[in-house]
Amino acid sequence: MNKSLQKHDIDEIIDGLSQPEKTISPKYFYDERGSQLFEEITTLPEYYPTETELGIMRDNIVEIADLVGPQASLIEFGSGSSLKTRILLEHLHELAVYVPVDISEELLIESAHQLRQDFPNIDIIPVVADFTRPFALPNPPVMPLRNIVYFPGSTIGNFIHDTALDLLKVMYEEAGEDGALLIGVDLQKDPEIIEAAYNDSTGVTAEFNLNMLRHLNREFGTDFNVKAFSHSAEYNENEGRIELRLVSSEEQDISVGDEEFTIEEDEAILTEYSHKYTLRGFAEMAHQAGFEVERVWTDADALFSVQYCVRK
Ligand code: AVJ
Repeated sequence: MNKSLQKHDIDEIIDGLSQPEKTISPKYFYDERGSQLFEEITTLPEYYPTETELGIMRDNIVEIADLVGPQASLIEFGSGSSLKTRILLEHLHELAVYVPVDISEELLIESAHQLRQDFPNIDIIPVVADFTRPFALPNPPVMPLRNIVYFPGSTIGNFIHDTALDLLKVMYEEAGEDGALLIGVDLQKDPEIIEAAYNDSTGVTAEFNLNMLRHLNREFGTDFNVKAFSHSAEYNENEGRIELRLVSSEEQDISVGDEEFTIEEDEAILTEYSHKYTLRGFAEMAHQAGFEVERVWTDADALFSVQYCVRK
């Protein structure tokens, strides 16, 4: 990795570990092994979001395609979840262009290559960008009639309210006039269902969580004693979110760049929030960003939602 990028990451990790509650950003889950483990999570019987969202997309794709209309530009924030994108690429009418946006160039090149083989008639223009900040859209050969920002997977749930709102505002800008947002949003429900999804019986989620420390040790030269940590996932009902932590069974001193930190016995590091919304709560936040929720699709048990938001 490029030295200055690495320095930026190390500064960010130091910053997180200096907080009153030690924190490491969930973006460090996703090295190669982490991405594999996440793929595995999406197939677990307890992890309802992926299958449920796919089902909602399949069940309503004709209506979705009609709402989007012909010659749209489809802009996807963050890659992965190609299955859901494929449903759209198969059904949207005369798509002008598909623009996958991701921070990982490698992942983008790889998935664009695969998609071009399967959809030879669709223009695919990947953009390498950090989607939490405004970025320039490419000029497609065919002038799109409107931009559709696509943000599946309830990735919005990773962000606390103010950051999620900022992100929705970026999407509002990227959607442009007459644009819309198609977004997957996980819903509040029986906490037992939610906690089971993040404490699966085979321990894949625990591995996924612990792998973050292995990733940091390898990539950024930290020296976490990974074996001493254990996985914790609890639903915080007041905040409507799952909170993932790694708890150390021993006191350990670790170094990150030029800094040293002591992790006490039984101290936890916060690694992820996954917010669950009420329909009303999400509509309010979308409204604050300038959107109107025009249509909401859910599954029969109202576990998950796909929402179509237009600019007010
Ligand atoms: C990719 C953020 C949507 O919050 O459910 C899955 C990540 N973490 N199991 C989620 C995750 C643990 C996932 N998101």
